[in-house]
Amino acid sequence: MAVETTLVLVKPDGVRRGLAGEIVARLERRGFELRGARLLKISRTLAQQHYAEHKGKPFFGDLVSFITSGRVLALAVHGETAIATVRTMMGATNPLDSLPGTIRGDLALELSENIVHGSDSKASAKRELGLFFPDGLV
Ligand code: RTP
Ligand code: MG
Repeated sequence: MAVETTLVLVKPDGVRRGLAGEIVARLERRGFELRGARLLKISRTLAQQHYAEHKGKPFFGDLVSFITSGRVLALAVHGETAIATVRTMMGATNPLDSLPGTIRGDLALELSENIVHGSDSKASAKRELGLFFPDGLV
């Protein structure tokens, strides 16, 4: 058990569909605290840095195009075991495999438009929070 901060992105499909408030509400109702929030259109450079682990994979180009296709809501989400718990709340990567009750399982159908991102490890959270909140205040 550890109190952690993780990066959540409401992806462009989530913002376009008006689901940002729903996702913030789910995180807050669960007991997490918002430590930072930014609504921004991601540059291609930031997208490539954020998804660097997927560079070279066949879907990388589409992933970068999608995540830069509109505004995202970047959130620094703080609380007990935040990294793993937020991933559980998000559901499986492919919404067709996500259980009901999860964000993707309730709100999405497409692998490429799966509404949310959440950091997948302590190292990812530190790196990704640094990319989206570079002033280090979160
Ligand atoms: P994310 O990074 O966006 O939170 O999603 P994730 O950890 O659940 O999944 P990840 O493996 O990191 O993949 C990043 C995003 O790439 C898209 N994807 N497409 N075509 C494919 O085989 C494929 N695999 C992954 C998904 O939109 C996924 O969220
Ligand atoms: Mg990922």
